[in-house]
Amino acid sequence: MEKQLADLQQAALAAIAESNALSGLQDLKVQYLGKKGALTAFLRGMGGLAPEERPRIGQLVNDVRQVLEQAIAEKEAGLAKQALAHKLASERIDITLPGRKPELGHRHPITLTMDRIKRTFMRMGFEIAEGPEIENDYFNFEVLNLPKDHPARDMQDSFYFSDEFLLRTHTSPVQARMMQSQPPNTPIRMIAPGKVYRRDYDATHSPMFHQVEGLVVDKQISLGDLKGTLEAFLKEIFGSSVRVRLRPSFFPFTEPSAEVDVSCVICGGVGCRVCKQSGWLEILGSGMVHPRVLEMSGYDPELVSGFAFGMGVERIAMLYYGIDDLRLFFENDLRFIRQF
Ligand code: PHE
Repeated sequence: MEKQLADLQQAALAAIAESNALSGLQDLKVQYLGKKGALTAFLRGMGGLAPEERPRIGQLVNDVRQVLEQAIAEKEAGLAKQALAHKLASERIDITLPGRKPELGHRHPITLTMDRIKRTFMRMGFEIAEGPEIENDYFNFEVLNLPKDHPARDMQDSFYFSDEFLLRTHTSPVQARMMQSQPPNTPIRMIAPGKVYRRDYDATHSPMFHQVEGLVVDKQISLGDLKGTLEAFLKEIFGSSVRVRLRPSFFPFTEPSAEVDVSCVICGGVGCRVCKQSGWLEILGSGMVHPRVLEMSGYDPELVSGFAFGMGVERIAMLYYGIDDLRLFFENDLRFIRQF
């Protein structure tokens, strides 16, 4: 009996020592210590022993039980420790590894140019107004002294939705919207930046482009105010050494009208390919607001006068950054866009 018990203990300890999974240990526990296990079977078998032998053998069985229980508990603790160590090792985070940099975008060169223009005018006390890109015939043409069938409409070939609605061809309709949105003769000093549309497509024209409109109306606004304002603006944008000149021109909504040129920012005015050897660059259209235009939007030309101007943002950006093809702005080639 003692020999059997000793063998059982030895076999059990060997099995426990060899076991390398918690589930296997559990099985061993049942196999040796469980209600139907080997040790219990031993106790049951004690009926066949002499009564004086029973306490000794009972004691031995309990000793073996204790030894096995302790061996299992130790093994369990060992395996748990091993599992934890393995988990810690395999899930380790290397905090010295440099992080992944999220790629940050930046503003588009047209937006950058637009922002510079806005900032410059805001410093001069201009407010910023906006109008719809889908405009009606009345605001885009009629109220700007461009009646139906007027030949000057041909200067701005457009995209029409219907006889009545079109994509605006310039930001000038915002002039009339501004005047009509407030009591007659209220002084105005505003710019209106935004997208405009024309049926053009080549190296210097895109069907969608950006303009900044300007309108100043008050008592006794003169051509001198126009020139002074635009000169201050252009020197801020292109540098204080540029010279500015006004050249007679025609727009139906201004009288007189003037094209505003700056001395070529590429060659300094001596003549180059960009200025076509003239030394001058055409930058924007302008003029004194036509009395009819004031009148049609409720302002009294006897009481107030004004000047207006409109500039192409792409053109200014091209000159400022030295870009020779306007289409580059809208092709979304990151090799181009990332340079700004
Ligand atoms: N709207 C004109 C254009 O797009 C520019 C302009 C605006 C001219 C205001 C004079 C006054 O060509």
